[in-house]
Amino acid sequence: MNQTSLKAVADKILSKPKNVAFTGAGISTESGIPDFRSPGGIWERFNPMEYATIEAFRRDPVKAWEMFRELSRILEEAEPNPAHLALARLEELGLLQAVITQNIDNLHQEAGSKKVVEFHGNARRLVCECGKSVEAELVKTHWLEGRDFPPRCESCGAIMKPDVVLFGEPIPRTASQEAMRLAQHPNVFLVVGTSAVVAPASYLPVVANKTGGCIVEINLEPTDLATGYAEHSLYGPAGEILPALVELVEAGLGSST
Ligand code: APR
Repeated sequence: MNQTSLKAVADKILSKPKNVAFTGAGISTESGIPDFRSPGGIWERFNPMEYATIEAFRRDPVKAWEMFRELSRILEEAEPNPAHLALARLEELGLLQAVITQNIDNLHQEAGSKKVVEFHGNARRLVCECGKSVEAELVKTHWLEGRDFPPRCESCGAIMKPDVVLFGEPIPRTASQEAMRLAQHPNVFLVVGTSAVVAPASYLPVVANKTGGCIVEINLEPTDLATGYAEHSLYGPAGEILPALVELVEAGLGSST
């Protein structure tokens, strides 16, 4: 881990409060949730075009639920890791305005983050095209025991889907507007654990960069942002880098009080 860059990023975060984190699946791999595009990722096991588009869901919801049920079992076991906890601490220190996440695992909220913009929804809820929605927890026991699988809407009887954005679906309007507002003129824009290849989420770091934000890439390896956008790149597990970064921020706060 590059200590010089880490210190420079910590000092930049301390300079102004309008810091924002933008996270992807990579922040949750240390919680046991595979990401999508790394070797062994979710898309290696489930072809997204067959399981994760809204057309595939409408064509064969039972097949789509094979993936959703597998993901649900993994999410069931997952706990926030030190990376999620570090971002919650940064918010508590008044130096992180929000987390914009592409993840559907609810781990930022469970780590204590209060302002979380769910750009791709949240698997903790099930929705029906008739407009009905329920907490997944309420029906999960059924399908984990093999009964009532896949879960059906108690209002209209249709098969429900997790409240997540499938390929071909729009980003929820409120989340999209809030994320775009946060991405404009940030102080530091932390880009954590995302390959930054899926639009429109991948536009956010570009907007942050174009409006004067300092892009900090935190990843195991360089992404497309490394050239031309990232002012600092911190390579290594987010579960190590973010706690080390917050430790330097707290030290900086201590020395200034
Ligand atoms: N620490 C830091 N970075 C990590 C870690 C880790 N422990 N583990 C993985 N990464 C990095 C990988 O190197 C990769 O760059 O996280 C990134 C994960 O990229 P993807 O698997 O593409 O996930 P993500 O960017 O969140 O995908 C965006 O695509 O399929 C859709 O809707 C899905 O929200 C998802 C979107």
